[in-house]
Amino acid sequence: MREDVAQILFSEEQIQEKVNEIGKQITEEYKDKEVVLIGVLKGANVFMGDLMRQIDLPVTIDFMAVSSYGLSTESSGVVKILKDLDQSIEDKHIIIIEDIIDTGLTLHYLCDNLISRKPKSLKICTLLDKPERRKVELKVDYKGFDIPDEFIIGYGIDYAEKYRNLPFIAALKREVYEK
Ligand code: IMP
Ligand code: MG
Repeated sequence: MREDVAQILFSEEQIQEKVNEIGKQITEEYKDKEVVLIGVLKGANVFMGDLMRQIDLPVTIDFMAVSSYGLSTESSGVVKILKDLDQSIEDKHIIIIEDIIDTGLTLHYLCDNLISRKPKSLKICTLLDKPERRKVELKVDYKGFDIPDEFIIGYGIDYAEKYRNLPFIAALKREVYEK
């Protein structure tokens, strides 16, 4: 598994420090509010687990699973909901927790879908962002790191369902996904 890593971009310590920062920020900004964290499966699972423990508020959590049709390393913008929320979000403050924003098509679709359910507010929190690759405009409210246009693995993020359990964030060797 580790032999497929081209370069480690962020260590466990660097990630934890950033996650703590975001957790603090959310704690301050949502004081006296009830907030629902919505994790986008499966990639945001690890980030969500760490982040929610850094938020000192009575949050609740829910998950959605989506898949985008198309090539394995590129989003098509056509999103299928594989698992929907368990609870209504009407009149709730929600924060979508995502692992990585690339073209933005997945989240654009998801936001439209969630806004139609009339939450009191909706914000986006992503650990990683590839701003150069954006195809649709998206307001990102909380962000961990900007990253270059490379294929990323680790800390919950996969290639072909593998590498999610790497504790750091890394770039995958090109020959692995181009072969
Ligand atoms: P978007 O719709 O192009 O923004 O893509 C968003 C989704 O594609 C993310 O939630 C990831 O699941 C996946 N994705 C985008 N870039 C990468 C990457 O570098 N590694 C692994 N998954 C990625
Ligand atoms: Mg994802």
